[in-house]
Parts: sequence; structure tokens; C-alpha cells
Amino acid sequence: IPLSSTGKSTNIHWHECSLEKVDRQKLLNQKGCVIWITGLSGSGKSTVACALSRSLYERGKMTYILDGDNVRHGLNRDLTFKAEDRAENIRRIGEVAKLFADAGVICIASLISPYKMDRDACRALLPKGDFIEVFMDVPLQVCEARDPKGLYKLARSGKIKGFTGIDDPYEPPLNSEIVLKHEEPCASPSEMAEKVVVYLEEKGYLL
Ligand code: PPS
Repeated sequence: IPLSSTGKSTNIHWHECSLEKVDRQKLLNQKGCVIWITGLSGSGKSTVACALSRSLYERGKMTYILDGDNVRHGLNRDLTFKAEDRAENIRRIGEVAKLFADAGVICIASLISPYKMDRDACRALLPKGDFIEVFMDVPLQVCEARDPKGLYKLARSGKIKGFTGIDDPYEPPLNSEIVLKHEEPCASPSEMAEKVVVYLEEKGYLL
């Protein structure tokens, strides 16, 4: 529990409530956690997030998706794709995801989150084990061939600057809890989601 803030707010105090995370978890019959899906644009993050959310819903489990693209329509609409704004985007989503997990929800965050340092900072916000990183390990050529939004084409022609994988970096995670590797023939989104469900079951998140 943070006793002081490292931000700009001063004279602030943490307020305790007798109703705790364990109580909310009992109500939901699950353990709150964050599933952090990272990968290049077009690697399938949002598709897997949706399939996972659906699969858990069918088991009676409460999830909520924080999708980078979607959160940038509202809470993060003031942020660009410069490194410091991406860091802020990730920090805010990490903090919101932490609140969802504290509410007892299985929070699925799907965003490129290209920098290891930013991802690790989000991991550090959660109790040990509650931050589950899922790496969409899909080669750039595959993502670029898919190009679902036509953004790679725009990036290659210089119409978008600083596009991840083209002229902006992506640091692949080295120690993700789960790696969803691109293989031929391609696994379906629900098959990939199933790997995450199995992990959650094994680790006791689905009570
Ligand atoms: S980040 O790096 O985590 O802050 O990015 P994120 O919030 O996930 O947003 C990624 C989506 O924004 C679109 N987009 C770009 N992506 C990467 N680089 C640049 N310059 C860029 N400009 C726009 C793109 O649709 C990404 O969506 P996904 O779902 O990843 O394809």
C-alpha cells in the first residue's frame, strides 16, 4: 500500500476500507490479475484479448479489456506515439489495470508496449504473480503482410512517422509467462486464448 506518492501531489493520505480485494474476489469466484498482451501492430493482440475474454465469460469469469487503440480514444487521447507519450500511455493503462485487478477482475491489457522498462514498471505495480505477460511472437514480415489497417503501408511510404517495427523500436520480452508464437499452420485465436486459460487454471486464478 503506497503511503506516499512519488508524483506531484502533496499532503495526500491513503484511505483504508474494511472491504478488501479478497472479499470482492469471493463474490466473483476468481482472483483479480492483469494479463498484459504485448506485440507488434497486427500481431493479433486485440483478437486474442477478445477470444480470451469470451472464453472466460463462458466459464462465468469477469474480465475487462483495456486495448491501447481504444483507450487512446478517451483517457489517453492527449498522447502521441513519441517514446515519452508511449511510456505515459503504458503507465496509465498499468495503473488502471491495477485498479481492475484490485476490484477482483481479470483485466486484459492489449497494447504494443514496445519498451521493456515500461512493461516492467507495470509489472512492479502488481503483487507477485498477478502480472501475466503474454508475448505475441509474430515476425514483422507476417504482421506487415497482414496489415489489417493499412498502417504498415503508410509507414513504409513515410506517411506515418515513428511506426513500431518500421522506424520505431520494439523490444521483445525475454521472460514472458506465456509466448504465443506464430507457426504455420496458424493457431486460431481461440486456441491461443486457451493457452492463457490453462495457465490461469494452473495458477489458481479461476476459483
Ligand atoms: S503503445 O506503443 O503501446 O503506446 O501503442 P498502443 O497504445 O497499443 O497503440 C497502438 C495502435 O495505434 C495505432 N498506431 C500506431 N502504432 C504504432 N506506431 C505508431 N506510430 C502508430 N500510429 C498509430 C495502431 O493502430 C496500433 O494498433 P494495433 O492494435 O497495435 O495494431
